[in-house]
Amino acid sequence: MPLRPKPPSPILLSTPSLTAMSTEKNLFTPIQLGRYTLPNRIVMAPLTRNRAGEGNVPLDMHATYYSQRASAGLIITEATHCHPSGIGYPNTPGVHTPEQIAAWRKVTDAVHAKGGRIFVQLWHVGRVSHPSFHKGELPIAPSAIAAQGEAMTYEGMQPFVTPRALEESEIPGIIEQFRQGARSALDAGFDGVEVHGANGYLLDQFLRDGTNQRSDRYGGSVENRARLLLEVTEAIAEIWGRDRVGVRLSPSSTFNDMRDSNPRETFGYAIQRLNELDLAYLHLLEPSESDLRHGGIPIPTREFRPLYHGNLIVNWDYDQAKGNAAIASGDADLVSYGKLFIANPDLPKRFALNAPLNEPDPATFYGGGEAGFTDYPFLEEVAA
Ligand SMILES: Cc1cc2nc3c(=O)[nH]c(=O)nc-3n(C[C@H](O)[C@H](O)[C@H](O)COP(=O)(O)O)c2cc1C
Repeated sequence: MPLRPKPPSPILLSTPSLTAMSTEKNLFTPIQLGRYTLPNRIVMAPLTRNRAGEGNVPLDMHATYYSQRASAGLIITEATHCHPSGIGYPNTPGVHTPEQIAAWRKVTDAVHAKGGRIFVQLWHVGRVSHPSFHKGELPIAPSAIAAQGEAMTYEGMQPFVTPRALEESEIPGIIEQFRQGARSALDAGFDGVEVHGANGYLLDQFLRDGTNQRSDRYGGSVENRARLLLEVTEAIAEIWGRDRVGVRLSPSSTFNDMRDSNPRETFGYAIQRLNELDLAYLHLLEPSESDLRHGGIPIPTREFRPLYHGNLIVNWDYDQAKGNAAIASGDADLVSYGKLFIANPDLPKRFALNAPLNEPDPATFYGGGEAGFTDYPFLEEVAA
């Protein structure tokens, strides 16, 4: 009998693992995020780097830094103030002067030239600022309650002060600051805006009852405490369209001395209301070990998943395997990476190739120049 070539094994062609790999969503499955189609679900988390120049203006090295990371599905910038009243750390960029807008334009052009997309994170730090940033005036907050800890100032670390509680009549002015910032962000060429509602800054201070003891329309009930976050988000969405606006929240975080007596209720309500707005995304932080040590109530982000039907980005200590698992299970739609993106400008490529990762150096996280900012090597440079 003549020998015939063996037919390919049908078993090999349909092993369960291969089938699973080809149908399961993972970090490299493209996704529609509001108005944009992203080539992957690997998001660069917002990262304050304290390197803005004179006048809180981003420098040319910011264009290099962000454009080096343009292979992210989406870049979210470092927190950026919309008005001098929102400043609370040295050398943080703003988006409220012509110089700042022009400098950000260079950044967004550089990212776009490399095919990337970049949202700006807009913040107001509220009570964790310091009078030295405001010509001696007190920082503002929902209530006159000082945070425990120290503010980072140009004169070094200084104890947090007791802030001044905003009058209700001043609140429309705060919303207007965010609206103006959003307008300037359009001029600066960004692709969208992330509202910073996390990590103990002004909007978070209004949301949680540990920092909000007001008795007006912006305090008391969870409906009232969530009002400023929702009004700011809507004001920004009026300018950008809801499909280019996202919101970041940190339900379990104790950072900046934050607490809430019932975070499940507080954040459950806020997330349900944000769900109704049909935004580009919601960005949630997982509980961290530090939150646990500081008496936080840990709520994994997957507990909130059923409340939010749009795109959910999750963050905190994710690696590639955990990110893929969260996406495959449906617990998240995208994953953002902070420290890994600081150290690995080509993080998506390294994930794709299972290549080794550069180690981030915390000594150069905050402040300084190009070292630890634009000089982390790409894979090709390592190989060479
Ligand atoms: C240097 C540094 C700066 C940060 N700046 C911001 C910021 O501007 N806005 C923000 O929402 N979170 C900020 N974060 C938090 C990160 O976005 C992220 O939540 C955190 O690093 C955890 O993610 P990771 O485990 O992937 O690093 C910062 C974190 C670090 C390490």
